[in-house]
Amino acid sequence: MGAVQTCFLFVLVGLLCVESKYIKYDTSSVIVPGKINVHLVAHTHDDVGWLKTVDQYYVGSNNSIQGACVQNVLDSIVPALLADKNRKFIYVEQAFFQRWWRDQSEEVQNVVKQLVSSGQLELINGGMCMHDEAAPHYIDMIDQTTLGHQFIKEEFNVTPRIGWQIDPFGHSAVQAYLLGAEVGFDSFFFGRIDYQDRAKRKGDKSLEVVWRGSKSLGSSAQIFAGAFPQNYEPPINLYYEVNDDSPILQDNPSLFDYNVGERVKEFVSAAMDQANITRTNHVMWTMGTDFKYQYAHTWYKQMDKFIHYVNQDGRVNALYSTPSIYTDAKYATNESWPLKTDDFFPYADIVKCLLDWIFYE
Ligand SMILES: *[C@@H]1O[C@H](CO)[C@@H](O)[C@H](O)[C@H]1NC(C)=O
Ligand SMILES: *[C@@H]1O[C@H](CO)[C@@H](O)[C@H](O)[C@H]1NC(C)=O
Ligand SMILES: *[C@@H]1O[C@H](CO)[C@@H](O)[C@H](O)[C@H]1NC(C)=O
Repeated sequence: MGAVQTCFLFVLVGLLCVESKYIKYDTSSVIVPGKINVHLVAHTHDDVGWLKTVDQYYVGSNNSIQGACVQNVLDSIVPALLADKNRKFIYVEQAFFQRWWRDQSEEVQNVVKQLVSSGQLELINGGMCMHDEAAPHYIDMIDQTTLGHQFIKEEFNVTPRIGWQIDPFGHSAVQAYLLGAEVGFDSFFFGRIDYQDRAKRKGDKSLEVVWRGSKSLGSSAQIFAGAFPQNYEPPINLYYEVNDDSPILQDNPSLFDYNVGERVKEFVSAAMDQANITRTNHVMWTMGTDFKYQYAHTWYKQMDKFIHYVNQDGRVNALYSTPSIYTDAKYATNESWPLKTDDFFPYADIVKCLLDWIFYE
């Protein structure tokens, strides 16, 4: 045999030795009362105009400014959800969703209607955008919310249950009672509060509260509200967009870098850290961030594996969830919550303070 043939044989034997074994990942977990439940909430945060215009964001042009294409997100979510009925996704910004909806065939629209009615795809917040809560007049907040909700009601015959103002800089009591409780939301979640307030709330487990925003309406217009422990991002090392560098969960023992034990350990420890600052045995992880899920399979493939192996390990229980499922789970515990009145204003961010200090002092 010549060198070429020998080499070829080695490659062939090498390929045959990498056993490929089909694994059916068990993603069917539901809430387990006696354990820490990690609610994995798959989401994207799509600013309706920020570094690019709303049109550029939708079609994915001018990607040198920011690599962001919202129609890719919505296009890729549909097959990813159809591939496993346990997977879930939330979508927020109606300015993008309605644009995409108008571009779809009747067949796709019917599939999406089924995903919404089965609860796999949940439309939350439901306004055209995630409005700022400090500068706009409340009439405009009502109008832009109404416009989005009307469409959702007409097309899907559902009403969004959850307020999801994860990126506005600080939060107003008006948002809590008028654009939250009075809209009919069951809960309201957000990412940005003053960094000192957040630190204190982590210490005394008061990130989640009952928020009574109106003095005159009192408890008749209160709402369950939660600030996230960090931002609206996943825990460290759990980012799975195509170019993200979080370590993948490599579960084929015949390949290099098998790491199931290590990655499960990291997952469990992040869950316990968050449980330590949270009332009840339910914690929510926001699995996504700005303009993510442009290729949704990369996220779901990893989350499928985590759910499978973390639950096999058994120290905590991981599940595909939504903020509605999380809210119902919190409610079912009968926990009593700290009371919050007035605003989450003024807002200061520690990162920004540091940058100001470095560049302007
Ligand atoms: C966006 O892309 C278009 C087409 O390539 C180009 O003409 C325009 O200058 C770009 N805009 C910005 C702000 O870079
Ligand atoms: C849990 O919280 C307590 C008090 O807030 C803190 O002292 C402790 O280090 C935390 N433990 C873990 C594992 O995060
Ligand atoms: C919560 O309270 C309801 C009504 O009193 C009761 O049926 C239920 O068992 C309680 N749940 C827990 C987890 O204590």
